Amino acid sequence: MRDIYDGLAGMGIPISRIFYESFGPATILKSETAAEIAPRDTVAVPVRFARSAADADWSRDRGTLLEFAESLGIAPNFGCRSGICGTCTTRILGGAVDYLEEPVAPRGTGEVLLCCSVPRRGTEIILDL
Ligand code: FES
Repeated sequence: MRDIYDGLAGMGIPISRIFYESFGPATILKSETAAEIAPRDTVAVPVRFARSAADADWSRDRGTLLEFAESLGIAPNFGCRSGICGTCTTRILGGAVDYLEEPVAPRGTGEVLLCCSVPRRGTEIILDL
């Protein structure tokens, strides 16, 4: 399934038009990170990890919010790293995120899934983490 996904993406098929279904928390379909999906987007977005007292500028080459947090020495909870289990659910106190693809795990108002989201351009993200 990963080979087909990568092949379609490599042919220029928009990610939003590629549909698939995964079973099990260990399934990670994409072989690339967020940084590889849109490497041209270099606009920095300020992110504050409120409880960790960490501030840093995120850009596409920093990956998902989960990858970004980990690169700063923050250790959020996670499981599948693919939007399925909901373990990485975190409250967002400010700003907005975009999902690399619509996650399977439900999330409540004011919650985001770190493993499959990136900061929305033009916002300032504040996470309760
Ligand atoms: S780690 Fe499973 S949904 Fe994010």
